[in-house]
Amino acid sequence: MRPVKLGMIGCGTVGTGVARLLIEKQQMIEQRTGIALDLKYVADLDQTTDRGVAFAPGVFIQDAWTIINDPEIDIVVEMIGGLTAAKEFISAAIGKGKHVVTANKALLAKQGNDLFRAAQAAGVDLAYEASVAGCIPIIKSLREALVANEIQALVGILNGTCNYILTKITDEGLPFDQALAQAQANGYAEADPTLDIEGLDAAHKLAILAALANGMRINFDDVYVEGISKITPLDIQFARDFGYRIKLLAICKNRGDKIEARVHPAMIPEDNILSNVSGSLNAITVTGHAVQNLFLSGFGAGMMPTASAVVSDIVDLARNIQYGAAGRVPSMAYQPDQIKTMPILPITDIVTHYYFRFAVEDRPGVLAALAGILGQNGISIKSVQQKGRKTNGHVPIVIITHHAREADVQKALAEIDSLEVVGPAPIVIRIEDENATAAETAE
Ligand code: HSE
Repeated sequence: MRPVKLGMIGCGTVGTGVARLLIEKQQMIEQRTGIALDLKYVADLDQTTDRGVAFAPGVFIQDAWTIINDPEIDIVVEMIGGLTAAKEFISAAIGKGKHVVTANKALLAKQGNDLFRAAQAAGVDLAYEASVAGCIPIIKSLREALVANEIQALVGILNGTCNYILTKITDEGLPFDQALAQAQANGYAEADPTLDIEGLDAAHKLAILAALANGMRINFDDVYVEGISKITPLDIQFARDFGYRIKLLAICKNRGDKIEARVHPAMIPEDNILSNVSGSLNAITVTGHAVQNLFLSGFGAGMMPTASAVVSDIVDLARNIQYGAAGRVPSMAYQPDQIKTMPILPITDIVTHYYFRFAVEDRPGVLAALAGILGQNGISIKSVQQKGRKTNGHVPIVIITHHAREADVQKALAEIDSLEVVGPAPIVIRIEDENATAAETAE
């Protein structure tokens, strides 16, 4: 078979890792696949930074259009990130009948439906394993390994920066800003760290996974997103007192005709397998009706782990080229004409357990007033704790609830907020505790 010719656009951190693997592991990959992968061009505007990669003469170029316009190129590898230029290059490559590999979760979350449709119409493959959770083969698992499963739930730690920050606060008591600076120094954070901290990066990834798991169109706009910037060491300490850890979770649950898709900080029991996923690691648990529970963990960012996923996609596409089998595994796990539009449940309709930390004046009747309002709104209290020092005239009261509906919680909190004895807005953290849910269901 003739070599499969590749052109990569963008040679930043991940692109450099991809080039390294393709050059340094060329022989091993050929021994495994029987296919020679020829990295014909790598295009990047920055021609001066030393990538530590020994490109053959003429490979490292500045103009991406040389790749798009070269009829010899079979696969375009888009590694520039961002929205506008990346979409232009991917669309143009598809238009020229080239297969595409990308790691661009923001682009796929927002415009993936159009791009997958264009790729299908052109008879080419668009592969994107590295867009979610770096080296973890979750896309391949959902598209291939779990094909016989109804996916009931998927819960993930999909942002390494947030996991790193929360781990540093939990284990070392580091203040938030210092933990973020360390995450950035280690190269985990996005160029704009608000994408990480405010949960948007995890939401991009969840939108893709929710679509794959449920055979639905990608619907990023309706994913509920809340980041970790309001999480304090005090809440992490209270969580520990109740036997919980705080993680930024990306949660997708199939509710029959609706889907839950939400990203927010959550308390999980210390013995939940996700509690011990530390530092910049990512992890995902998938519940499928046949497999029951599957747990995958690994690095969700970084040069070589992410490059590993990109090269895996390149090999998949090269194998398809070898057998003339584009579209053999549909990009979005279901046949394109079977993909549905499914509504995402508004956050106000979810039912879960809650942690509230109120700042209140320390005087008789205050707890009764809080409990009264919660009770009037159908919210049942599981435990209460008052602990800690007075700050600005207020003491912290922590309340853990039984199952409650978010709409009732919001109404109760608005009523509590109007009480004179209550200080600044409470901290509200949802609790994902299957044991507590099971116990309540049994009652
Ligand atoms: N910034 C992302 C993270 C890595 O922290 O997980 C790439 O998705």
